[in-house]
Amino acid sequence: MYNMLPVCFHLLLYLLVEISLYEALLQSPKMLFSASYATYLTGEMVSLECYVSADFTIHGYKFFKNNQEVQRTEAPSVNKYKIRMVKTSDAGSYTCLYWISDSRGRQESEVSFPVFFSVIDQPSTPSLIVKPLQSLYFEGETVTLECKHPNINSQITYQFYKDASKLHRYHDTSMPEYHISNLSTKDSATYDCEYVVLGHQRIIPSGKSMQQTITVTALSSSPLLKFLPSYSTFINGENLTMECEAPSPVHVTLYRFYKEGEELKGPLSHKGIYTLQNVTKNNQAEYTCMYWSPKINREIPSAQSPAKEIYVIDPLRAPLLLVDPPSGRIWTGGNFTLYCTAPEVYDRTIFHFLSNTNEMISVPTNKNQKTAEVTVNMKKFNSTSSIKFYCQYTAEIKGRSLLSPKGPQIEINVVERGSLLWLIAIGVGAGIAVLLVIIGLIYWVLSGKKDSKTDKEEPKPVNDGGCKVTSL
Ligand SMILES: *[C@@H]1O[C@H](CO)[C@@H](O)[C@H](O)[C@H]1NC(C)=O
Ligand SMILES: *[C@@H]1O[C@H](CO)[C@@H](O)[C@H](O)[C@H]1NC(C)=O
Ligand SMILES: *[C@@H]1O[C@H](CO)[C@@H](O)[C@H](O)[C@H]1NC(C)=O
Ligand SMILES: *[C@@H]1O[C@H](CO)[C@@H](O)[C@H](O)[C@H]1NC(C)=O
Ligand SMILES: *[C@@H]1O[C@H](CO)[C@@H](O)[C@H](O)[C@H]1NC(C)=O
Repeated sequence: MYNMLPVCFHLLLYLLVEISLYEALLQSPKMLFSASYATYLTGEMVSLECYVSADFTIHGYKFFKNNQEVQRTEAPSVNKYKIRMVKTSDAGSYTCLYWISDSRGRQESEVSFPVFFSVIDQPSTPSLIVKPLQSLYFEGETVTLECKHPNINSQITYQFYKDASKLHRYHDTSMPEYHISNLSTKDSATYDCEYVVLGHQRIIPSGKSMQQTITVTALSSSPLLKFLPSYSTFINGENLTMECEAPSPVHVTLYRFYKEGEELKGPLSHKGIYTLQNVTKNNQAEYTCMYWSPKINREIPSAQSPAKEIYVIDPLRAPLLLVDPPSGRIWTGGNFTLYCTAPEVYDRTIFHFLSNTNEMISVPTNKNQKTAEVTVNMKKFNSTSSIKFYCQYTAEIKGRSLLSPKGPQIEINVVERGSLLWLIAIGVGAGIAVLLVIIGLIYWVLSGKKDSKTDKEEPKPVNDGGCKVTSL
């Protein structure tokens, strides 16, 4: 008996250790989802795992939904509860426990903490709406793609695809619209869209919409705007016809003319002819034209013609002509200089000096030069008396050469050296006559003063003589 005591003690100790070991090991398991999220789409598979970190043999598991047992597995390795095609009604609170069997019978662990999952419907496939819808688009047009679907109370982002590759969007991806402004032929492609539901610890894509094809056609090649007459500088009051010329093989249904981008309407403008009558400064502007040609149920516009500018000027004014010496009187064989001055500066001015003997000298000048001069030697001209000169100019204004009216005439008088002596003689004679008159006047004034003092009437005849001299 005495010897039995330590044996009993040891047995007791062993049992105590065993019991406390079981109690420690049969702590509650953990319920886990095989996936890392807790929101499932209808029809997906849900896998729940009853997880125990233990190195002893577990003999079975029990699974509960809302505290109702839904599965009992005997096989020790099967610790999973699977719902193959999940339905909305499967959503709820799930728990599990495990058990072990030993000499003392079946020992059940505590129940795990519950886990929950929700089931949502697969997001409906969107439709891609193209606004405006055309069988054919042309360059420069704007098109909007809208990814349309029934309203969903979740955060959504949209993705658009062009020929199955993602389109980058720099603006807000929560907007269901994608704009393509200024279409180019490179935008011709097949487009579709998709939206993604966010906020469930997972990404739920809607699946792609039906495809929409966008075909962009290049604009017809630009026409040529022509002026008749072909220059671009016009004088106030002149007429001008514009012609829009399409590249030859194109069938054109409409032409249009534009002045600084604003359409011009004329009786024949739709036929490609626009006439400006009696042009004024108001017509000075940049002009372009376009044409339309039919293509697959649409009228395709052409690119704009290169712009052409119209300059409207007042008629040229006559130049000013000056001569050196200013008297216009020169000796035989002498030189004189003519100065012709245009009233304005032009791109290029050619001055023409003309004489009544049809002699002509043209002087081209550089840019910004208003005046030209020529020195002429009188020997050139056979005339011995007088020659009339005048000048005019040709101004080049934006490619058009215009001839000005003639300026006032200047007369050059040739004075022969021989006749100069006579001139001197006449000059001297005239000088002496003037001198005599002055002396006579002084005498008359002085004698008049004397008369008023003495009241004598005698000197009167002398006075008359004085008057006679004056009248001479
Ligand atoms: C449209 O695109 C064309 C060619 O890509 C370009 O030359 C033109 O400047 C663009 N127009 C606008 C308004 O962006
Ligand atoms: C411009 O055209 C009108 C009408 O055809 C005509 O009467 C006028 O003489 C023309 N003016 C000039 C400067 O040619
Ligand atoms: C041309 O325009 C001017 C100024 O506007 C006007 O005085 C003149 O009568 C016009 N001539 C014709 C033919 O229309
Ligand atoms: C006239 O001009 C020429 C050169 O242009 C010159 O040789 C000549 O001496 C000038 N004659 C007079 C009188 O000034
Ligand atoms: C001036 O007279 C000469 C001789 O008579 C002649 O050869 C020359 O052509 C004449 N010049 C002019 C500008 O008339």
